[in-house]
Amino acid sequence: MSSSPAVEIHDLVKRYGPATAVDGLTLTITAGAITSVLGPNGAGKTTAVECCEGLRIPDAGTVRVLGLDPRRDGGRLRPRIGVMLQEGAGLYPGARPVELIAHLAQLHAHPLDPDVLADRLDLHETGRTPIRRLSGGQRQRVALAAALVGRPELVFLDEPTAGVDPHMRRSIWALLEELRADGVTIVLTTHLIDEAERLSDQVAIVDDGRLVAAGSPTELTAGQDSTVQFTGPPRMDLTGLRTALPSDARVEETAPGRYRVTATVDPQLLATITSWCATYDVMPDGLTVGRGSLEDVFIDVTGRKPVTS
Ligand SMILES: Nc1ncnc2c1ncn2[C@@H]1O[C@H](COP(=O)(O)OP(=O)(O)OP(=O)(O)O)[C@@H](O)[C@H]1O
Ligand SMILES: [Mg+2]
Repeated sequence: MSSSPAVEIHDLVKRYGPATAVDGLTLTITAGAITSVLGPNGAGKTTAVECCEGLRIPDAGTVRVLGLDPRRDGGRLRPRIGVMLQEGAGLYPGARPVELIAHLAQLHAHPLDPDVLADRLDLHETGRTPIRRLSGGQRQRVALAAALVGRPELVFLDEPTAGVDPHMRRSIWALLEELRADGVTIVLTTHLIDEAERLSDQVAIVDDGRLVAAGSPTELTAGQDSTVQFTGPPRMDLTGLRTALPSDARVEETAPGRYRVTATVDPQLLATITSWCATYDVMPDGLTVGRGSLEDVFIDVTGRKPVTS
């Protein structure tokens, strides 16, 4: 794995007329890793990625991809990167999937075997259907194959598994993990938190065109409060438990007889909960301790916007 970053974005700004889509984004992407860019709709993910691909001209800031400027050095950069646009855009609508992938393979010096790739992504099932008549999920798979077939050092995949069925999603994850093992740097945007959590070494959360959190899934969830859940009789009076627990602990009955305590969990907190249960002769069935998920982090860092009408 190379030690220099694959992508360096510094203070990137991109406006569309009066609207600022990317607003001072600074982000470094590690080489040889999978990085997921998460963010709400309209956060500026696609715009930022398209600046890296040389498809959009930044209004301010700098972008370096494999040490090159995507606009000035586009000719040198393009053969080294793979690009999958959102919703599989940019494919020749009249082309047939397997033929297109075979053709793209011929344009590269050391392509992946197009037949093997077509098999992995189930492209043979599309037969002679032209791309414009494919289903959304089929088009996504063609776009992914097109991005990968040239054996790029770095790929940008904009929502690669959107609209793809769960079996194929797993196959795509396995394929991306194999590419990472071969040293490929993968940058993907996604709305699927489980995808980001499962697949990525690094996660960058973008909101309103800025970076709001970054780190490995474990680092990002480390600061989250944990939860203790258990089952007991419905509608227990929780006042005593609330008094006994630290003041920042949250105690809720999430469904009749299902209780959840959200807090910094330590042995003392568990002892307080179980001894409170013992006082009422309640067996805390199915007591489990869990940590806050990446979804909780996402909601936390992107959900505090004031509501405007
Ligand atoms: N070509 C364009 N012209 C004008 N505004 C645009 C254009 N492309 C994007 N925008 C606006 O810029 C903002 C960021 O859009 P962008 O597509 O980068 O977001 P995103 O994070 O990729 O969202 P999504 O998760 O929905 O794909 C949005 O408010 C969008 O409406
Ligand atoms: Mg997008």
